[in-house]
Amino acid sequence: MGSTNTGEQIPIEEPQGKLGVLLPGMGAVGTSFIAGVEAVRRGLGEPIGSLTQMGTIRLGKRSDKRTPAIRDFVPLATLDDLVFGGWDIRDESSYHAAQECGVLKTQLLDQVRDFMESVRPMPAVFDQNYVRRLDGTHVKKGKNKMELAKMLQDDIERFRAEKGLSRVVMVWCGSTEVFLKTQDVHQTLELFECGLKENHPAIAPSMIYAYAALQSGVPVANGAPNLMVDVPALTELARQKSLPICGKDFKTGQTLMKTILAPGFKARLLGLSGWFSTNILGNRDGEVLDDPDSFKTKEESKLSVLEHILQPDLYPALYKNFYHKVRINYYPPRGDNKEGWDNIDIFGWLGYPMQIKIDFLCRDSILAAPLVLDLVMFLDLAKRSGMRGIQEWLSFYFKSPMCAPTVYPEHDLFIQLMKLKNTLRHLRGEELITHLGLEYYD
Ligand SMILES: NC(=O)c1ccc[n+]([C@@H]2O[C@H](COP(=O)([O-])OP(=O)(O)OC[C@H]3O[C@@H](n4cnc5c(N)ncnc54)[C@H](O)[C@@H]3O)[C@@H](O)[C@H]2O)c1
Repeated sequence: MGSTNTGEQIPIEEPQGKLGVLLPGMGAVGTSFIAGVEAVRRGLGEPIGSLTQMGTIRLGKRSDKRTPAIRDFVPLATLDDLVFGGWDIRDESSYHAAQECGVLKTQLLDQVRDFMESVRPMPAVFDQNYVRRLDGTHVKKGKNKMELAKMLQDDIERFRAEKGLSRVVMVWCGSTEVFLKTQDVHQTLELFECGLKENHPAIAPSMIYAYAALQSGVPVANGAPNLMVDVPALTELARQKSLPICGKDFKTGQTLMKTILAPGFKARLLGLSGWFSTNILGNRDGEVLDDPDSFKTKEESKLSVLEHILQPDLYPALYKNFYHKVRINYYPPRGDNKEGWDNIDIFGWLGYPMQIKIDFLCRDSILAAPLVLDLVMFLDLAKRSGMRGIQEWLSFYFKSPMCAPTVYPEHDLFIQLMKLKNTLRHLRGEELITHLGLEYYD
């Protein structure tokens, strides 16, 4: 009784031909991902942190000893199938962009230089009102947002034809846009399309990319906290076009730690009186987040995590009034090598207080690159499996997971992983694993 049999396999189209990967935003994360895939293809490094490349999945009972690699269990594209493209407001090759971002060493970049020089961004759909700290010249001009969307659709078609691709996916790796709430114009596809024609200010560039991708039959993942594809009009379009979508905001440094630790506190019923998180980082992302309106988008995303994991309404004595603060400070000398400090005030038996301090000297883009790769592979798998709309099983990768309006988002990293792996088992008609395991003791 340790598992549930789902029975039949879901029909999945074979991953034949080349898979195009389109990135709006080819900065630190985007170029670390592209250079990293090429480095792995040339045997210069290992795809560490990627579930699709290094992860395994247990099948059946523990005593069956069946634990294939995930990539042997479900039909995924291979690294050799991937072809890269994208858009940016800077007209420079991804080799130069990667050099400037300073994440990967020049010695490694030089070994993939020819390849990286061949990957150049197309002119972006960009408006400084949505990312105030940036300005660029490599930008499309159109009479309204609908016309810009059509230009992106043309780009996608050209990319598909020129590279001879059988499939394409899009992952937003662009800067964090200013905070926007869902408004009337986002509610239905009809209103949204009128808004595109009328240049509605609540339609940000990221949403124009998402609309263009979905209209072109391309699944979409969003690595930043801005809404992008997370509005009813676009989730409706994704369902209409039978396309999978997911987001938002890659779960990498400090929030990854939070979603590892907080479930542990709750599991042991340890109380929380406060969690103070501060960061210093000096990359362009840090500069963009120095603008209070971009920071607000990030802050909302980072703050929601603890409330959902700790469920103060169910455990008022432990979590009712905890104080949660998140700061991000732009500090240029650090570049991409962020330092995140957490001071956690917890309490135990009879309310006795304790403290935990974390000092995570992380590398943001090194943590994010494998997530981009997995999202590319899994979105493509989802599309070939006929899965459409919000892919909650990919919550594992996000700080603010998109989910159905009727449920709260699941933030606990371990529940997210279980959901992801059970989805893969379900696709292959394997037993879902509940971890009950009484049968070993019959
Ligand atoms: N690195 C991480 O760990 C991490 C984690 C979570 C989220 N993110 C998010 O991922 C995104 C990328 O991060 P990064 O470190 O690569 O930032 P970055 O500043 O190095 O790269 C972003 C790129 O997007 C470009 N850009 C901005 N607006 C654009 C538009 N409208 N169209 C095309 N290009 C556009 C910028 O010119 C820049 O090159 C950011 O939104 C960041 O908040 C990163």
